[in-house]
Amino acid sequence: MSQGNDEEHTLCPAEEIPVNGVRVFPLGRHGIGVFNIEGRFYALSNRCPHAGAPVCHGTITGTTRYRGGYDMDWVREGEILQCPWHAWQFEIATGRSLTRPAWAVKTYPVWVENGYLVVRLTSSGRPATEESV
Ligand code: FES
Repeated sequence: MSQGNDEEHTLCPAEEIPVNGVRVFPLGRHGIGVFNIEGRFYALSNRCPHAGAPVCHGTITGTTRYRGGYDMDWVREGEILQCPWHAWQFEIATGRSLTRPAWAVKTYPVWVENGYLVVRLTSSGRPATEESV
């Protein structure tokens, strides 16, 4: 499949990626991880913008939110990807880093077509990508 300069790839039946799970596909230069977060799919490059770790093999987790003083809450469980090398945190939905907000993991459009996941290998157009840091 092709559309302009973009390349579309059919990956696998969407049901093969469990809710709150991820599968890494050998696409592009570093691989692409497709996450199923509560039934919504997101595709991220498997390269951490910090030092190049295979970030999609990190931990799907939440994060802390400070309430002031010594108080904090645990929030956003299942929405955050923590890098396996230095524990930087990224929003799975956007690729943006919570650790360094100007940085981001590259994201790709992904959708379900006839029950199969399809990913388009093109930049999301977001200004903070691994190339911009
Ligand atoms: S390589 Fe990912 S946080 Fe350092």
